[in-house]
Amino acid sequence: MKIQFYGQNSLHIEAGGKHIIVDPFISESPLAKDKVKIEDLKADYIILTHAHGDHILDAEAIAKNTGAKIISNFEIVNYYAAKDIEGHPMNHGGSFEFDFGKLKMVNAIHSSSFPDGTYGGNPAGFILEADEKTIYIAGDTALTMDMKLIPMRYKLDLAILPIGDNFTMDVEDAIIASDFIACDRILGCHYDTFGYIEINHEEAFNKFKEKNKELILLPIGDTVIV
Ligand code: NI
Ligand code: MN
Repeated sequence: MKIQFYGQNSLHIEAGGKHIIVDPFISESPLAKDKVKIEDLKADYIILTHAHGDHILDAEAIAKNTGAKIISNFEIVNYYAAKDIEGHPMNHGGSFEFDFGKLKMVNAIHSSSFPDGTYGGNPAGFILEADEKTIYIAGDTALTMDMKLIPMRYKLDLAILPIGDNFTMDVEDAIIASDFIACDRILGCHYDTFGYIEINHEEAFNKFKEKNKELILLPIGDTVIV
């Protein structure tokens, strides 16, 4: 799998020969808006972890440009269905075999309303199994004991965890999360986009290193392979 980072929780994943965009927040992102053009993005699917603006901002435009299908919770898929965008609804604990791989929706401790106030269902994370690898996309979440359920069933190759604090886990909680999910290779996300979530990169690297864990922080547009 090839995972490209666009800031916040925005990712472009190539898996099973398909293009998947996760939580597109690009055109108004202070980090990404001058570096990434949403018109250039390829997408067969758009995965949305929850309905907050910093996760769904460009979903409608990308879906309309590409014909991509939205995968998210039932309420979010319905919201886009009303705009004539195709979707695949899921809910916590459920998994489905897509043409790119298998996706399971797991718990996240957060909230999920659309910027216009529409109810956005419950926030989620996802486990993606594709190309003989398994990754965990945590979405916006607090540290939660539910993460301990993941390694009972999955051996993760990479986990994408929020580390920016204020709205989600901070670096120290993410280190505990990495123990809970039994995965020592972490791609950090949800940091530096706004003043509330700016982090000290050096300090973050060192905290992970002290626990013999790897923290990857990608510049906008850079890629990690699993
Ligand atoms: Ni959020
Ligand atoms: Mn967020």
